[in-house]
Amino acid sequence: MSISVSTSSESSSKKPLLGVNIDHVATLRQARGVSYPSPLAAALLCEKAGADGITIHLREDRRHIQDADVYEMAGQLSTRMNLEMAATDEMLAIACEVKPFWVCLVPEKRAELTTEGGLDVAGQVTSLKEYVHKLQASNIKVSLFIDPDDKQIAAAIECGADAVELHTGAYAEAGLANDTDAQLAELKRIEQAVATAQSIDDKLLINAGHGLTCDNVNAIAKIDGIYELNIGHALIADAVFVGLESAVTMMKEAMHK
Ligand code: PXP
Repeated sequence: MSISVSTSSESSSKKPLLGVNIDHVATLRQARGVSYPSPLAAALLCEKAGADGITIHLREDRRHIQDADVYEMAGQLSTRMNLEMAATDEMLAIACEVKPFWVCLVPEKRAELTTEGGLDVAGQVTSLKEYVHKLQASNIKVSLFIDPDDKQIAAAIECGADAVELHTGAYAEAGLANDTDAQLAELKRIEQAVATAQSIDDKLLINAGHGLTCDNVNAIAKIDGIYELNIGHALIADAVFVGLESAVTMMKEAMHK
């Protein structure tokens, strides 16, 4: 299937897409070490419910998604796989074999509960540029998960990334702490980052994600120029109560209201 990807300037007036991160379906499976629930079945259900892409994070410690999930899913998705991974030699070899539509490079710490901060692209431009080019040579589009920070955006562009994914964790956490001023400040930081990215390179796609929920997603989805939101934990949590298809529908409605 050929799927076109519009540029940031083309997509600025469009509603953002929803990429569903299904890692936590695998978390549930790994908690018992059995074969269910199936991340593949979850991915297909999300696609049926209107997800625009499926995100999975193959962590170095394999705490949720396993190598077999990645290979199995690659042949069966009808949308696009976004493979999150650390920039290691092991992951490069897997990605070049699987050839997901997107790879999103993230920082990884063994002890963290989830991806804690953005990638320090500015601190490793030379090595990341080479890594990004190797993925692109395998026909894979590359996104870099970064904090909404001008220096990181400029560095991501210097590395030749096709997209950045802006870390919305601080925005989400401020909301959970009921700190409205801090949340507004974080929202402005994300808006500013989008504007900076567009002003430097109008072909760069701008995604966002982390900690987004039906309650906090709308303000982020309304930012002009956001191409796709990647959402996992809250959506899978909603699915426990309403089912996966309804949870996808609810999130899309919350994004686009
Ligand atoms: N984007 C990236 C790069 C992530 O690492 C994660 C978490 O795996 C997400 C989005 C989704 O975050 P959440 O599970 O909080 O929705």
